[in-house]
Amino acid sequence: MAKETILITGITGYIGFKVLYIALTHGYRVRGVVRKEEQISKIKSHPLMNGLAAGVEFVVISDLTEAGAFDTALDDISVIIHLASPLAKETDYYDRDIVQPPLDMESSLLGSAFNTPSVRRIIITSSAVTLIPLSWITTSDNDTVFTSQDLNTDTTPPYHNSMEAYWASKALARKHVHDFLSRNKPHFDIIQLLPSVVLGPDDWATDLETFFVGTRAMIVPIVQGKVMEGALVGAPVLVDDVALAHVDAIKPSVPGNKDYILTSDTPEGIEWNSILDIAIKYFPQEVENGLLQCTGSLPTRKWKLDASDTKKAFGWEFTSFEDTVRKQLEQYITLVKSSRTSS
Ligand SMILES: NC(=O)c1ccc[n+]([C@@H]2O[C@H](COP(=O)([O-])OP(=O)(O)OC[C@H]3O[C@@H](n4cnc5c(N)ncnc54)[C@H](OP(=O)(O)O)[C@@H]3O)[C@@H](O)[C@H]2O)c1
Repeated sequence: MAKETILITGITGYIGFKVLYIALTHGYRVRGVVRKEEQISKIKSHPLMNGLAAGVEFVVISDLTEAGAFDTALDDISVIIHLASPLAKETDYYDRDIVQPPLDMESSLLGSAFNTPSVRRIIITSSAVTLIPLSWITTSDNDTVFTSQDLNTDTTPPYHNSMEAYWASKALARKHVHDFLSRNKPHFDIIQLLPSVVLGPDDWATDLETFFVGTRAMIVPIVQGKVMEGALVGAPVLVDDVALAHVDAIKPSVPGNKDYILTSDTPEGIEWNSILDIAIKYFPQEVENGLLQCTGSLPTRKWKLDASDTKKAFGWEFTSFEDTVRKQLEQYITLVKSSRTSS
């Protein structure tokens, strides 16, 4: 039987491109949403798309926040995976640039899906940051084990920095979905996935810049000597596991109208400075010859999360932090060595 056609947003991103790749390798047909025409050839010409490009068709939607933006894109679509979202960025307008776009995108997508009988499920990338307000980090609570039932309700502006605005935006967007479900009782169900700090190899990486971007910047810069003062929550997850969860969530056997935390090393979490021990364990030669300096540090804010529901629903275990760091450093070392041979 031919597999379903899945619409995916955010396919130009770190997580979304992996979701696209895994969906295609699992035999799904994909309608990929991009914002600009020129992104299509970039995706098609990626080495991972070799032999897979026939399984994907593209639709250009320049503004996903506009009401009705998805109306013509959902023909015959049974499942939507919605990853597109602005990340935390410096701006003078937190509300306009960070908080409002995800809400408007959801309204647009849910509105179009509501009028499309073929849609049976929507999978939305939320975040584990929706479980707690940013201010929780400065409390002395080291014991609470947070579950997918938790939701930050402390989202009122003004936001004092881009991170606070991003945390609020993800919490508001998650609540928006809960409210939509209880108000509208749609013919489809919704799964929200809540990744913690996403790490691991970036399929788009062609140079070393990627290791200093987003959450990936929590590994290589620390190994290479960066000393960070602010603590980061000690809850990581491998990007490949996050992407696989998005594709596995298509299966009707995964219960819908539920939120699932995606995180490894539960419930205790990890210590960020163990990155240095992991580097020494797996790459002693590179440490010895100075390619890996192992001199930085990153304090950990302990954060206990419970992902037992996720493991039960999806039937697999998360990759350990140790393996996640190993994979990330492997990609870094490979790129450093190839940049040295080509220069
Ligand atoms: N990375 C993490 O640690 C992490 C953790 C938890 C949750 N998440 C969530 O996972 C999802 C994907 O994150 P990522 O790390 O893959 O981010 P990413 O690499 O920055 O990718 C973001 C994607 O969203 C699109 N996008 C950005 N702003 C948009 C806007 N205003 N309108 C429409 N599309 C927009 C981008 O498209 P263009 O290429 O066209 O800009 C890109 O495809 C997001 O929802 C994020 O909140 C990420």
